Amino acid sequence: MVNKKNILITGGAGFIGFPLAKYLVRKNYKVNIIDNLSRGKFDKEFKDLLKNKNVKFYRYDLNKKIKINFKNISHVFHLAGSVGVKNINKNAYGSFFNNIISLKNIIDTLQNKKKIKIILFSTSEVYSTIIQEKKVKFPIKESNNVLIKNDVIKRDAYFLSKIFNEKILQLSNLNYLILRPHNIYGPRMGFSHVIPELMQRMTNFKKKQSKKVLIFSPRHKRAFCYIDDAILQIVKLSFNTKLKNEIFNVGNMSEEISMIKLANKIKRLFSYKINLKNGEITQGSPHRRVPDMKKTLKFTKIKKFTNLNQGISKTFKWYQNKI
Ligand SMILES: NC(=O)c1ccc[n+]([C@@H]2O[C@H](COP(=O)([O-])OP(=O)(O)OC[C@H]3O[C@@H](n4cnc5c(N)ncnc54)[C@H](O)[C@@H]3O)[C@@H](O)[C@H]2O)c1
Repeated sequence: MVNKKNILITGGAGFIGFPLAKYLVRKNYKVNIIDNLSRGKFDKEFKDLLKNKNVKFYRYDLNKKIKINFKNISHVFHLAGSVGVKNINKNAYGSFFNNIISLKNIIDTLQNKKKIKIILFSTSEVYSTIIQEKKVKFPIKESNNVLIKNDVIKRDAYFLSKIFNEKILQLSNLNYLILRPHNIYGPRMGFSHVIPELMQRMTNFKKKQSKKVLIFSPRHKRAFCYIDDAILQIVKLSFNTKLKNEIFNVGNMSEEISMIKLANKIKRLFSYKINLKNGEITQGSPHRRVPDMKKTLKFTKIKKFTNLNQGISKTFKWYQNKI
């Protein structure tokens, strides 16, 4: 018998996995977490979460066959994987297979457990090629077909692994949801993501009295979604018993902004006395990415979102004494 309140989160020490675990513990779920801590943090906040009797943590590498026996689990949130452009560029081949083998091992463990629902965290980057090839209308709907080109650069390892993850899951016998998050941001995400990275670079430049901060891909636009809004979408979609074998964008389509405008906003909000300068375009970076959220909003009925000013301020508050 599956227990509807007993769930597994892979990657639960990471940026999205941790607040998801925290949210579900507050709602009285029993939360099992697997993470190998390759990127997730074993910090005070995570240790505090582990003090709760309803949380079990397994430090485990999902590249190995899973020997843990998960009884009575109803939902598996599969977030573990290699992420981040710099990280992927350093080890494209290894990252690709980390994402593929991790999912295969999870599916093999769950095979024939038809009552379990697996929620795969894919990415908005699966749309990269259709954006580059100008084969898509903005905002981007989930119903678009994705595309794979003949040539490849290292960074592509990420979205290629996610496209294959989606297909592997669709070919399995499991109930699933595929979520495609779009530029989620907030506290505890590390400095390799755009918003904390900009905050860090601006603070450091201020400290060193340097004159200019380079903004890469300055005209490229992204739609940013604050972490709390993303968690609410994830939870509402995942526990909706009517939703099975579907794909959903996760994000906020009303907060689209160019990198240079974003940098100016951060500069203004925190009164940084620095100059910004347009930098070069990052290789492989799509010029625009904004999700069509109609399908997600229809099923979640979410109406209120955190605006960018509020979200950035909350993020900055968490980061300010860590920079
Ligand atoms: N943050 C975003 O805006 C965003 C956007 C699109 C997609 N996603 C997807 O959401 C998921 C979570 O992203 P995140 O930002 O929280 O990333 P993250 O790096 O903070 O979390 C991933 C976690 O997985 C763990 N991990 C990696 N390989 C593992 C392995 N072999 N075994 C066990 N644990 C392993 C890491 O230690 C880390 O804690 C990822 O799958 C990512 O592709 C995130």
